[in-house]
Parts: sequence; structure tokens; C-alpha cells
Amino acid sequence: MGVRNFKARPFLKWAGGKSQLLPQFQDLYPEALKNGCIDRYVEPFVGGGAVFFDVAARFEVKSFYLLDVNAELVLVYRVIQREPLRLIERLQDMAARYLGASEADRKSFYYAVRDRFNAAQPGINYEVYADVWVERAAQLLFMNRTCFNGLFRLNSKGQFNVPYGRYKNPKIVDADNIVKISRLLQRTEILCGDFTLCEPWVTENTFVYFDPPYRPLNATSHFTSYSRDKFGDADQVRLAEFFKRLAENHGVYLMLSNSDPTNEDAGDDFFAVLYEGFDIHVVSASRMINADPSKRGKVRELVITNYHC
Ligand SMILES: C[S@@+](CC[C@H](N)C(=O)[O-])C[C@H]1O[C@@H](n2cnc3c(N)ncnc32)[C@H](O)[C@@H]1O
Repeated sequence: MGVRNFKARPFLKWAGGKSQLLPQFQDLYPEALKNGCIDRYVEPFVGGGAVFFDVAARFEVKSFYLLDVNAELVLVYRVIQREPLRLIERLQDMAARYLGASEADRKSFYYAVRDRFNAAQPGINYEVYADVWVERAAQLLFMNRTCFNGLFRLNSKGQFNVPYGRYKNPKIVDADNIVKISRLLQRTEILCGDFTLCEPWVTENTFVYFDPPYRPLNATSHFTSYSRDKFGDADQVRLAEFFKRLAENHGVYLMLSNSDPTNEDAGDDFFAVLYEGFDIHVVSASRMINADPSKRGKVRELVITNYHC
């Protein structure tokens, strides 16, 4: 199969998703990507993969490398990669039962799925692909579509605790998209772990996009619920050191997103100091900037590149 574009779309609602920023990102991608000179795309904080799917749909890249510390998320990517049809079948079955039920029965169905998902957790070996992964991936995708706000949140015991969300007609399965994603994942390596594990993948003609958990602007915007592990300032510094080390390699294009501390404190030069010598661009995002989910507003965010745009 020759190199071609893959018109797959994100399949998960994921906190910090970048879909809304893609139009602004087009101008910030490296020229080498637009000219067809990039062989590898690496995304070490992949989450819902909005940028991964955008790059795969618009440019010809030979291979893709994804990493995320969230084991449940990586499990879903692996299942789509290996057994898309079994996953679609399970989702179609769940969707038929859910959508045909009364409001009260939908609610009990949701909580029964959530209970089974949580009860199975201690028995899952996230290292070795197994038959039970298909059911687990189906449960996670189903809950992502039917839970309140579509968030993925684990409590301190690692349990999924998001309540039922009252949606009229949620799209629980998009079979065509799952098949397209699976085709794209045939040329993709996916690992679970810390972002530094991507280093061996970063060779000449590689584009790396980093989208770490954002440094919080203030206490109420602090979002650390992707997994139980927090990503604090020490990790932001560790990431900047890693970025600088990769930037020393020839033919490596690096792009990184983060919050802009000057939204709250004009004198906060945390990222300006960490990424001194690199290009720092400003984009505008609509984010929840308050504890009240109905209050959204425009905030500035940073995009740092080791190349000029
Ligand atoms: C801002 S989200 C990425 C959102 C993604 N770009 C999208 O469009 O959906 C950050 C991701 O980093 C992951 N993460 C947190 N700490 C990590 C670490 N040390 N190494 C790798 N991934 C990490 C989280 O699980 C989460 O999926």
C-alpha cells in the first residue's frame, strides 16, 4: 500500500481536545510537512488525537507513533487497530439496547455498564492484548458518548465515576469511522507510558507535536483528571529539557502547546524562560475558564516551535 491520506476523525470526546484550534494550527505546521518531506509523525500526549487525525487526513506521512500515559485510552486505540469489526459489533449491540430503552432504563443500563467496567479493572493486564479488551473498549466508548459532559475521569481508586448524561440521541457507534481509523492505525505504533519513551522514534524528517496537560492558570481551571498522576511544574520543566534535547537533532520539527500564563498574570514568564530561543506563537481558544461549565470565554494559548513559520 502506497502512502496516502487517511480521512479518519477523532472518536473520543477528550478533555483538552484540539479540534477547535486546527484552523489556527494550519499556519503553524512546518513547511516540511506541507511539502511532503516528513516521514514520521510522533505525538507523545495523544489523548483524543485531534492533531494526529488532522495530519493523517491532510498530509502524506509514512508512519505514525503515538504515546499516552493513560492505559485505558491506549487499550482503546489498540483494539481499534486490531479488532475493529468485533468492536463495532459490540457497540452496535449496546447502542440498539440503549437507544430502544425508556429514559429510566437507559440510566440503569449506563450504570450497569459503568459497574462492570469498574469491577473488571483489577483483572485487566494492560501490557498484553487479550480477548476481554474488546468489551472494555466498547464500554469506554459507550460511556464516553452517554456520560455527563463526555469526560473521562477516574477517582483516586482508579474508578470511572462520571454520572449518567441525559442525551436524546447520542451517536454511540460510527462504524465507517472506526474502520478508517483502524486502517490508519495499521501504520501506527502505539505505546503506553511517559512522554520520554518517544525519543527513539524521533529521527530525521520527523514532526513531533506535544500537547501536555496544560499548566493551570489558576486554582479553578486546574484540570488533572486524565489519570491519577498529576503533571506539575517539575514535569513542565522536564518536558522543556526533553524538547531542547530533541531540538539538537537535525531534521526534527517540534511543535508544543500550552496555556499562556499571561492571561492571569502579565508578569508570569514561566514558558518564556523555559523556551527561550524558540519561536513562541499565540493562538486564541474558547475554554471553560470558570468552575461553572456554562461560563466559557476566550483565552490565549501558546504554541512553541523549533522552526520559523
Ligand atoms: C491535553 S491532553 C491531549 C489532548 C489531545 N491533543 C486531543 O486533542 O485530544 C494531554 C494528554 O497527556 C496525557 N499525559 C499526562 N501525563 C503524561 C505523561 N507523563 N506522558 C505521556 N502522556 C501523558 C494525558 O493522559 C492526556 O491524554
